[in-house]
Amino acid sequence: MRLAKGLGLVRGARPLLGTFLRPRAAVAAAPARSQALVYEQHGEPARVLQLKDLERAELGHSGVHVKMLAAPINPADINMIQGTYALLPVLPAVGGNEGVGQVVEVGSHVTSLKPGDWVIPADAELGTWRTDAVFSEETLMKLPRDIPLLCAATLSVNPCTAYRMLADFETLGPGDSIIQNAANSGVGQAVIQIAAALGIKTINVIRDRPNLQEVVDRLTSLGADHVITEEMLRKPEMKDLFKKVPKPRLALNCVGGKSTTEMLRHIQQKGTMVTYGGMAKQPLTVPVSAFIFKDVKLRGFWMTQWKKDQTQNKDSLTGMILTLCDLIHKGQLTAPACTQVPLKDYRIALEASMKPFISSKQVLTM
Ligand SMILES: NC(=O)c1ccc[n+]([C@@H]2O[C@H](COP(=O)([O-])OP(=O)(O)OC[C@H]3O[C@@H](n4cnc5c(N)ncnc54)[C@H](OP(=O)(O)O)[C@@H]3O)[C@@H](O)[C@H]2O)c1
Repeated sequence: MRLAKGLGLVRGARPLLGTFLRPRAAVAAAPARSQALVYEQHGEPARVLQLKDLERAELGHSGVHVKMLAAPINPADINMIQGTYALLPVLPAVGGNEGVGQVVEVGSHVTSLKPGDWVIPADAELGTWRTDAVFSEETLMKLPRDIPLLCAATLSVNPCTAYRMLADFETLGPGDSIIQNAANSGVGQAVIQIAAALGIKTINVIRDRPNLQEVVDRLTSLGADHVITEEMLRKPEMKDLFKKVPKPRLALNCVGGKSTTEMLRHIQQKGTMVTYGGMAKQPLTVPVSAFIFKDVKLRGFWMTQWKKDQTQNKDSLTGMILTLCDLIHKGQLTAPACTQVPLKDYRIALEASMKPFISSKQVLTM
């Protein structure tokens, strides 16, 4: 597999979100109903989210009726509900930005989808935590139906982010290495697998924990070359590791704070650190020497922005998704470790998704 740079994507028009709370039509027939996790104000997700019975929008000529099958809870979904994310929906809104659904019915003007197709959101803000809804065609992307459900439900955010970060910042080839923190995150697991498929070595940093060996074994089974703790990252023994693997040209930072400082110590001359998450909620601390003596580059990445930037290049998102599906078919990319939770038990899933050391993506099933 080769990484394709600069591929573009389908720019999704907003779904028919605004219609879900509209007043009942003054006709005799009872409108179709759906259930959705709705928030009317920002705040702690367990407090502001409610499972509500909603009137479903009519199909019309261009609508696509989708029955949702599974949708994960990602950190960005939580931040969006808390009101701390860079992208905030018009309220009231349905939670969830990612997931997979199956097309039930399409309007007469819909050309790219048919009943039975599996679809994922083409962009953020679809509102995936619901049983079903009518969306507009442009907000959806068709997926091959022969990939596992959990792979499909978790494909559009983390594996795409991992793919782009490996492709767009440094030219990497077999034998090169990268370093990443929060390596057991959804993104981290995708980075390990995509890098392994490309022959790129990975140095994976995780937090120490009681079941450390279990996590190390899991990441190793995904193809991780080296798994170390944040503490080990600071030790002189790191020199021994770099006898086996070249210093990384690319560092992927999901944490911030001290973790960033330590990763930067090990990066190659003129290497790049890409920050895509800030789980420690601490600013980046960059040693002056990294700039002066190594001339490192500090960059950022946001998948949502990448998608917005590709609006004129419809093939780019589709191309990336098909490449990732190809890896799934070949057994080189699997879903992250997941816990499936029925939609009605969403509070349990929300609570687990916000706990440290869980190492399992909570996926709501409908
Ligand atoms: N920029 C983008 O386009 C983009 C795209 C996707 C995701 N993201 C971001 O990437 C991050 C990970 O997302 P995900 O879906 O992969 O998450 P996830 O699967 O829920 O994993 C969360 C990760 O964060 C770690 N973590 C949590 N709190 C931490 C702390 N205080 N210090 C250090 N590590 C901590 C966890 O490690 P433990 O097991 O040690 O708790 C785990 O590895 C999030 O910040 C998300 O918003 C960004």
